[in-house]
Amino acid sequence: MPHIMDRLTAELGLLYGGDYNPEQWDPSVWREDARLMREAGVNLVTVGVFSWARYEPEPGVRDFAWLDEVLDVLQAHGIAVDLATPTASPPPWLGIDHPETLPVDRDGVRLVAGSRNQFAPSSRVYREAALAITCDLAARYARHPAVRMWHVGNEYGQVDFGDEAAREFRAWLHDRYGSIDALNEAWGTAFWSQRYRDFEDVLPPRRAPYLVNPTQALDFRRFTSDELLACYREQHAALREAGVTAPITTNFMGFFPGADYWRWADAVDVVADDQYPDHADPRSPADAALVQDLMRGLGGGAPWLLLEQAAGATSWREHNLPKSPERMRLDSLQAVARGADGVCFFQWRASTAGAERFHSAMLPHAGPDTAVHRGVRRLGTDLARLHPVIGSRVAARTALLFDWESWWAAEEPGRITERLRTLDQVRAYYRPLWDRGVAVDVVRPGAALDAYDVVVVPQTYLLDDDAATSLRAAAEGGACVVVGPMTGVADRNAHVLPGRFPVRLADVLGVSGEEWVALPDGGVPVTGALVTGTPGKGSAHTHAELLRADDAEVLSRFADGHLAGAPAVTRRDVPGGGAAWYVGAVLDEPLLAAVLDDALTRAGVPAAVPGAVGLDDVEAVVRGDVVFLLNRGGETARVAVPGTWTDLLTGDDVIDVVDLPPHDAAVLHPAQPRNQGTGDDEVH
Ligand code: GAL
Repeated sequence: MPHIMDRLTAELGLLYGGDYNPEQWDPSVWREDARLMREAGVNLVTVGVFSWARYEPEPGVRDFAWLDEVLDVLQAHGIAVDLATPTASPPPWLGIDHPETLPVDRDGVRLVAGSRNQFAPSSRVYREAALAITCDLAARYARHPAVRMWHVGNEYGQVDFGDEAAREFRAWLHDRYGSIDALNEAWGTAFWSQRYRDFEDVLPPRRAPYLVNPTQALDFRRFTSDELLACYREQHAALREAGVTAPITTNFMGFFPGADYWRWADAVDVVADDQYPDHADPRSPADAALVQDLMRGLGGGAPWLLLEQAAGATSWREHNLPKSPERMRLDSLQAVARGADGVCFFQWRASTAGAERFHSAMLPHAGPDTAVHRGVRRLGTDLARLHPVIGSRVAARTALLFDWESWWAAEEPGRITERLRTLDQVRAYYRPLWDRGVAVDVVRPGAALDAYDVVVVPQTYLLDDDAATSLRAAAEGGACVVVGPMTGVADRNAHVLPGRFPVRLADVLGVSGEEWVALPDGGVPVTGALVTGTPGKGSAHTHAELLRADDAEVLSRFADGHLAGAPAVTRRDVPGGGAAWYVGAVLDEPLLAAVLDDALTRAGVPAAVPGAVGLDDVEAVVRGDVVFLLNRGGETARVAVPGTWTDLLTGDDVIDVVDLPPHDAAVLHPAQPRNQGTGDDEVH
């Protein structure tokens, strides 16, 4: 099926560039920038993300002449523009003249201008002003030949507890529940005398004397995500109405808690993401891979864009270690391997003033004769060679379930342990898959699972009937389903489901539980055979569950403490050929890896590159028919990859084996038989 990005990438190749903030520079610098961009292989820059105060220095005044010139300069150098609507950072005068446009925090403090994101998503005045500047930009540039993509706002995530948010929250609740009785029921307001007489009495979960109602808090998160999405949607619609035909998107932030990207994914023409993995964390390549697999999942497998990353160090962590050019290259290629059709940065030229003056850039303060910029040029050359991957997809036989609503509901305070964190669990289940080179699709609960042989459910706290039905169908259809703790605990109102847990899955898992148990510091030993025929031994920590095996084999038991002798990990052979594991605790890494190995082996899911050897420190991903090999280690890796290939990065032939220097990569394309189908064969 054609994708809206196809035309752009067919013309430009893989997209390469970054945020460009020309308003920070003299026009003479624009020309130098365009020249240097061109030399670095840049073909797309995001312009105008923070330009509102420059466009509209006073209410109603417009100054676009400078942007006309910027676009002309870029166009003259063959650089396409992703034009932003500048609505993430209104000019200070908007908040001064209309304080209600400023967001209010949980404590009732109104935030002021002087940073960015100083807008209240529900403020009518803000929405009108944002739409007005968007419409004027669109009227002027909808058909500008340099503008090939549009970027709405920036990293939507603003939360507001103010009066206008309260008004819109009530309207949202009215739509959801229809009557105050239904809301009272859904929120369980019989508890602590919280019953509401009318929607007018309902407030956002502002600071209260003690814990707030968890369903109120959950609904406010849902509402906030939807309200931000409404801001996005109305600008998207305005751009289309003005005649924009180019792709329109906004930049996501990976596993960002403030927006449910499953609900956003349909609203963007192409999924785009900002990624700043902490390269000082040895596990960050796996965690970044997970985010990238999520981005692919959000787009239903279609190519996505890495819209921001750092060329070197970030400046917003407490202590920002440098990122080497080699690491920057590997991380960029990783994104392409996992489905990105574009690699961009924040930002092109390093700012000399402002809060991000020490954030790295493609062009550092010290200029082009720098290691960072040489790395940027090298990457530009690399990406230009990767034509064969454009538009192609990653095929996975393993699915991993993730869901924002479950994450939100599971982490409301007032639970057995606050140390059980959904994202920690998701990452823990993903890492062994990454280590083994298994291709994974991140999917939302309830999605069709027929294409998968292994389905991993690290922790889906809210499990509705549809999600339970699709998991059951997967296991009965022959898949290996691995379910982690605190899954299927509650319904969509976050009410704990009565009965032995996980109520909606206990039959297919063959196991049921009755008590959630916080484990003492130091954990609890676990014993038992985890991999068929092989004795396993390890430990559980943080959280465990008192389980009873009703119709499942017990693979491991707790060896000590409150749960001594009770099942820790079970497996049931499901009629129809599948199998279902239940993991009733947070397991140490080797033990969890053994469980996942058991499932992968049973399902016969191979590593990404069948037959490859020598991948210990090498991340291997197959996209389309191209094999990406990324050496994450400090030693040369000799990788055996049966076949005859061309390394797209070097043009070298590779037959069966490739040597990868430390922190280097190969991108192997099946070699074309010479003269194939040319009719010239006899001549030679
Ligand atoms: C992103 C943001 C950019 C820049 C970057 C580096 O979150 O969209 O504008 O701030 O981080 O910190």
